[in-house]
Order: sequence, then C-alpha cells, then structure tokens
Amino acid sequence: MEDRGEGEEPAAGLHFVGMKEDLIKAKRSFRTLEGRDILVLYHQEIFYALDFHCYHAGGPLQNGDIEEFDGKLCIVCPKHKYKISLAEGESIYRATNPYDPVPTTRWYSKGIKQRVHTVTETDGDVYVTLSHMSRFIESDYFQGEKGKAERERM
Ligand code: FES
Repeated sequence: MEDRGEGEEPAAGLHFVGMKEDLIKAKRSFRTLEGRDILVLYHQEIFYALDFHCYHAGGPLQNGDIEEFDGKLCIVCPKHKYKISLAEGESIYRATNPYDPVPTTRWYSKGIKQRVHTVTETDGDVYVTLSHMSRFIESDYFQGEKGKAERERM
C-alpha cells in the first residue's frame, strides 16, 4: 500500500478505522462501514475484523472470550458459546459421530458462517476493506434488510 500524504483520501474500498495505538489500547472496537457493523479486534499482535453480530442469533461478539480450538484462534460467542475462527469466520464444534466404527469426540466444521474483513496498516493508520465475497454468509442476516431478504430467498 502506498503512503498517504496529508489530506489524501485512502484508496477506494479502504476504510480508516483508527490509529494503531488507540485500537491496541481498546482491544475491541465497534465501527460501522458502508452501513455494516464491524468488530475490529487486536489479539496477540494481530488485527482482525469480522461482522459484529454473531451469525447464530446476533449475539454480542465483542464480549466473547478468545481461545484456541483445534489449532484455530476463535471467538466464543457469549450467548450460546458458538466458536468462530477469527481468521476465516469458520464455525467449529466438537462432537461424536455415533456412526463411526469407534465413536470418538473430535472437531467438526460448519463452514464459513461469519463474514471476516481484511485489515491493513500503514504508518500507524489501520484500515479495513470489507469482504466482497458474493455468496450469502449467515452473519449477513444481522446486517440490515438486504441480508434478511437474501436469507429468505435461499
Ligand atoms: Fe452467538 Fe448464539 S448468538 S452463539
């Protein structure tokens, strides 16, 4: 990314979300970008951005614990404890398949359920580029009427 001089606008699609040091201090920050509610979080020296409302029932992800499960760093939704990977928005769960010859408990994936966005940083400024993955992702449902209408069409 190119340096941005005094008064210059960031490149199209890039949204300035704050100064790095402020976001680190805050750890979790709420932003609305293009009408979309986003959680920007800083954990173990990495920034992540994902849809603010949990894909399951709109739970407040900003209050979720962050833990590693199956080698993936996840936020645990405080409402029903669903685990969502920070990097991919994948929902994972632990279960036993009774049809396995020797049923053992292991991790399964429900796939990508939470929309995640790209975070970049230049000279202490932090930007988010919204995901433009075209298919419906479950967390879209909690991002206004368009998301709700898309789910109804499915
Ligand atoms: Fe997040 Fe149910 S609302 S797990």
